[in-house]
Amino acid sequence: TGVITIDPGYKNSGSCKSEITFLDGELGILRYRGYSIEDLAEKAGFLEVSYLLIFGELPTAQQLEQFENDIKKHTLVNEEMKNIIDGFPKTAHPMGVLSALTSALTAFNPKAVNVENEKEMYEAICKTMAKFLVIATWTYRKSMGYPLNYYDNTKGYVENFMQLMFQLPTGPYKANPIIVDALDKLFILHADHEQNCSTSTVRMVGSSHAGLFASISAGVSALWGPLHGGANQAVLEMLEEINKDGGDTDKFLAKAKDKNDPFRLMGFGHRVYKNFDPRAKIIKKAANEVLETLGVDDPILEIAKKLEAAALEDEYFKSRNLYPNVDFYSGIIYRALGIPTDMFTVMFAIGRLPGWIAQWKEMRENKEPIGRPRQIYTGHPLREFKSNK
Ligand code: CMC
Repeated sequence: TGVITIDPGYKNSGSCKSEITFLDGELGILRYRGYSIEDLAEKAGFLEVSYLLIFGELPTAQQLEQFENDIKKHTLVNEEMKNIIDGFPKTAHPMGVLSALTSALTAFNPKAVNVENEKEMYEAICKTMAKFLVIATWTYRKSMGYPLNYYDNTKGYVENFMQLMFQLPTGPYKANPIIVDALDKLFILHADHEQNCSTSTVRMVGSSHAGLFASISAGVSALWGPLHGGANQAVLEMLEEINKDGGDTDKFLAKAKDKNDPFRLMGFGHRVYKNFDPRAKIIKKAANEVLETLGVDDPILEIAKKLEAAALEDEYFKSRNLYPNVDFYSGIIYRALGIPTDMFTVMFAIGRLPGWIAQWKEMRENKEPIGRPRQIYTGHPLREFKSNK
């Protein structure tokens, strides 16, 4: 009832109250549950941050161990899920497969979770954290035609990601601790970002009381787009193209500024950050460190730095407050770690999972009403029916 105002893209509309993530776009501040992203990336682990986001407080050592063990209880994925994976062509994009597999988990876990029951909620959360990681890596194994791996309960969550991805039946696998540390940090930086497109999607789908897997599957689809999480793949493809083209960054800057050219500088700009993206700062530093420690000399990193410096000096980008975002340097690290380009957005999804869970949980606990925006109708007035046949 009342006057309907339209706010395309919800640029100035809040959809909920939330205690999870604080973001100040002018000052470039990001905090989870009151803790700065800089502190968390430096001092905490991914499961610790997941616990913080989902349950509101940092876990004690005992709570964290319990959480990790409870996740391990759910790491076996139903063997019949493999039949579903087999139905996909090898060339399928891993994000499409991940969304479908997450949705398929609803079929193997059909019982609706009673959100009022703390134990049931906790179990659903642990189950989601466990199975999502495994199926995320299976999308890659499928694309390579490799046998699917199982979670190794003697190892940590992030270490398992590497092992699930890369262990071959032909020999043992030992994850490089430098890589595990770098990934841990990247997952933390992606873990939540208040009401972004995929999180809003998870909340919207969940607001109809759809289950956690179904809501997260929708979140994966939303994240896939190149304006959102898909940007990390698009950035690397763009940098590779510039490299192949001889490294002329000015040419691509000019294309990005040309309003008749649909090309955008991928990894630049943000709906909320109008000064800088604090995650991008941390990731740029990490990219330098990781490449140096691993002894990787990647010309793509130099191109990225050159492009960033030129854009930051450019009037078009300056006047529109366009700065590198979280996706600009993350792909360079993933590439150095041996992660294939079409898996980059899956990496984002693994990192974002605890945020989606936390937001879904909060939405249900706050008993939010079903999401149902209005519109202003601009079509025909009433017409008399006369067949066109
Ligand atoms: N390259 C060139 N021009 C740009 C770019 C860019 N990357 N981003 C924004 N602009 C221009 C845009 O054309 C517009 O110009 P004008 O005012 O002359 O029409 C102005 O800047 C404002 O842009 P907008 O599209 O109205 O801003 P938005 O808040 O709707 O979009 C965005 C934000 C992130 C979708 C956009 O900046 C973009 O498309 N960036 C490239 C894709 C990308 O890196 N996405 C990752 C976002 S961060 C992580 C995540 O969410 O996954």
